[in-house]
Amino acid sequence: MIALLPSVVAASTVKSVGAVVAVVVLIGFVAYVVVNIRSGREEIGSEIELAPNRKPYYSDEVLEGPRLTRALSTGLVLLAISALGVPLYWLNEPARQDGAVAQFDATFVSRGSKLFAPTAEGGYNCAGCHGPEGTGGVAPPYTLTSAEGQFVAAVSWKAPAINTVLLRFSEEEVRDVLVYGRPGSPMPAWGEAGGGPLTSQQIDELIAYLGSIQLSSSEAKAQTEEALRIRLGLEPGAFIDYTDPAVGKAIFNLGLATGTAGGSYSCARCHTKGASFRDGPVSPPNADLSNYIDFKDGSGANGFALTSGLVPRQFLTLDALIQFLRIGSEYGVLYGQRGVGSGRMPGLGDNPNTPEAADGMFSDGMLRAAACYESSLEGDAPPLGCKGSLAIPSAPQSGTLTPAGGP
Ligand code: HEC
Ligand code: HEC
Repeated sequence: MIALLPSVVAASTVKSVGAVVAVVVLIGFVAYVVVNIRSGREEIGSEIELAPNRKPYYSDEVLEGPRLTRALSTGLVLLAISALGVPLYWLNEPARQDGAVAQFDATFVSRGSKLFAPTAEGGYNCAGCHGPEGTGGVAPPYTLTSAEGQFVAAVSWKAPAINTVLLRFSEEEVRDVLVYGRPGSPMPAWGEAGGGPLTSQQIDELIAYLGSIQLSSSEAKAQTEEALRIRLGLEPGAFIDYTDPAVGKAIFNLGLATGTAGGSYSCARCHTKGASFRDGPVSPPNADLSNYIDFKDGSGANGFALTSGLVPRQFLTLDALIQFLRIGSEYGVLYGQRGVGSGRMPGLGDNPNTPEAADGMFSDGMLRAAACYESSLEGDAPPLGCKGSLAIPSAPQSGTLTPAGGP
């Protein structure tokens, strides 16, 4: 639809110019007819004196002299105008169309930013939860209810930064989240189809606005690395040893405790029960949240529980797992050995909206660290390629794999 609309806008400009020309021509034509009829009337009854064939006309000298020159020069000028005018118009046409598209996009972005704005400014307050410019924030107190519908507690649920959301999800996937929300979380459904207040065009406007506030891949990578250094207690700019399992664990929970970017970089916000609110205030403070929070990494939430034997049960090799983390899942597309994608697992190392590779939020080091960490969550020995993995001996004696020792 976005691609179609600019041509409508362009067509309507052409239409209005055409309408003006048509009106001018019409007026001219009417004037011509009127003048003709009037001069015709004068002739009534005087046909003999004024019969055209009896009227003396110009002499040959006049006809072939200045009069002819004038007629020919006028014709030449008009010919030149149409000969030059058409190509000039044609030359300008692509720029005019680009201009129409750019103006159209700008209109979408500015409307989207109004929808994003706080309620006080007439918007739908995405900013209230996700922070101004979508840099991440906290939702207002969110009520947890029991299976019987009883109030359990009000918690502070982190709202992920969405100035990077189009680095990890395709536009289609973001549209799904906006239209249907994230059931079981404070993120409401906004689209008509999900029971929300916004039309599909307004959803497109929000996506256009989100597109305009996205960080670049290198900015996002720099931000994840700084958040990681803070979590690991390293100096700014210090070397990070991505083979260290502690780094993998830190990535898994990145930014949740500190609130950096609303924890958007973490795996835990989707793969660990209650990770998005376990570090925030709870009301009443003594509420029993044992059914809602699990401190075991990968216990499962909106994303699957990450169970034992991820490699090789689901992913044959570490590289296959890293590749999955890099590109995420796609709706209806198979992944790993027997996974069916829903499009809800983000692509962390590759922006799905561009043809370029590796232009996502995570560097290769981060992807590897996360993959090594999560594939040994259940006490499995880390897969080949990770620190402490099972190594194939250089001169196999028995043909079996021998453990090379723990981390
Ligand atoms: C009441 C608070 C709240 C409001 C208002 C809200 N969101 Fe959200 N949103 C959330 C939370 C919390 C999540 C994460 C849910 C989860 O834990 O899975 C989220 C998730 C998202 C995501 C998916 C991000 C990701 O990486 O998982 C997008 C995109 C998003 N919101 C956009 C919007 C837009 C656009 C608006 C305004 C129309 C909006 N949100 C309004 C709380 C809110
Ligand atoms: C926005 C939520 C979200 C985030 C963040 C997220 N995941 Fe996922 N993940 C999912 C969902 C949902 C699935 C299930 C697959 C699907 O629905 O497409 C999944 C599936 C997976 C699987 C496949 C599990 C299986 O047994 O098939 C692995 C492995 C995984 N995620 C690891 C990670 C790691 C590691 C991170 C952090 C670097 C991460 N995920 C971040 C939502 C998320």
